[in-house]
Amino acid sequence: MDTLTVELGSRSYPILIGQGLLGDPRSFAESVPASDVLIVSNTTVAPLYLSTLEAALRPRRTLATLLPDGESYKTLDTVARILDVLVANRFGRDCAVVALGGGVVGDMAGFAAAVYQRGVAFVQVPTTLLAQVDSAVGGKTGVNHPGGKNLIGAFHQPAAVVADTATLATLAPRELRAGLAEVVKYGLIRDSVFFAWLEQRAEALLAGEPEALAHVIRRSCQIKAAIVGQDEREHGERALLNFGHTFGHALESATGYGRWLHGEAVGAGMIMAARMSHASGLLPQADLRRLVGLIERLGLPVSIPDVPAAALLEHMRIDKKVLGGRIRLVLLRGIGSAFVTAEYDPILLRHTLEGHPAGIS
Ligand code: NAD
Ligand code: GLY
Repeated sequence: MDTLTVELGSRSYPILIGQGLLGDPRSFAESVPASDVLIVSNTTVAPLYLSTLEAALRPRRTLATLLPDGESYKTLDTVARILDVLVANRFGRDCAVVALGGGVVGDMAGFAAAVYQRGVAFVQVPTTLLAQVDSAVGGKTGVNHPGGKNLIGAFHQPAAVVADTATLATLAPRELRAGLAEVVKYGLIRDSVFFAWLEQRAEALLAGEPEALAHVIRRSCQIKAAIVGQDEREHGERALLNFGHTFGHALESATGYGRWLHGEAVGAGMIMAARMSHASGLLPQADLRRLVGLIERLGLPVSIPDVPAAALLEHMRIDKKVLGGRIRLVLLRGIGSAFVTAEYDPILLRHTLEGHPAGIS
């Protein structure tokens, strides 16, 4: 087992990474002192792992609430259902909420924990690659609004993240690939050596080789933990973690949640951001080619769907990175080197959204 720490002073917490952790009572010994625990999961994940988790949490009183599966249910209405269960069962401020599932379950369970009685303890047990490398770490919780992705939410750090890598064995290949998009993001924004490693081990990752997956979870969490430790509330460098997301969120919102998985939209969004970086004279053509090549090898979409540029732009305007009415973008100077800027040519942005930024082959 590996243990990393998200350093946030008195709110620091461990990320445990290893095989079989969700069935081991020791995984929860320190992070769940509560005697009343609400496990939030969904109708797909619960049949696979709920009973194992319940056994590991005994003798605490555990209750489970199962949400419908899918991004389209990541709404305030669904969070209200979780809150109803907490109220109906008289859970006190000393209870704990445990999220068992992917990023959708984790974001909603975390938001319910953030607002129930102004905040109760919360533990993430992520079961998708995307959640293990990204969404379970860092304390962003929330739901979508018809007007935009993740517009309603709160920061609420977990007391622990328990990433049981054995759960990835039951994950659909398409979901594994979507998680790899967020992994590529870490190489692009921070670590060119890691990016080169991903190029070498792409096939092993796609085959679900446990050693390769354990390495990417560890390295991704190290990078994310370091950034969150420096900038918890996204006043500065945490925005780099949104590389590809401003474009990707617009794709998700404009196409209606369900057509593309979040990670797929992020993969296409990273290519759009990289194309714009190249068209702006920042990113060398060779680096752009490497990125497109890796995304393609990972079986992720590389072209944008047929959505009018104006519709995408409209969605980008309500992105959380908009400041003073200006859409801020994360762009690349090279693999491993990202920065946030509001200084770019709006014509290039429009061309990027139309799918043909100038000078791009
Ligand atoms: P998801 O939660 O929808 O899970 C993907 C699918 O896999 C679902 O059908 C789920 O039921 C199923 N599943 C989960 N674990 C499984 C397992 N072990 N075996 C078999 N099936 C399993 O999607 P996701 O990709 O995990 O998360 C995407 C969400 O995360 C988006 O809503 C996105 O906005 C959010 N997100 C949040 C943050 C953050 O910082 N909070 C960061 C990135 C993404
Ligand atoms: N996924 C972006 C963040 O956690 O900040």
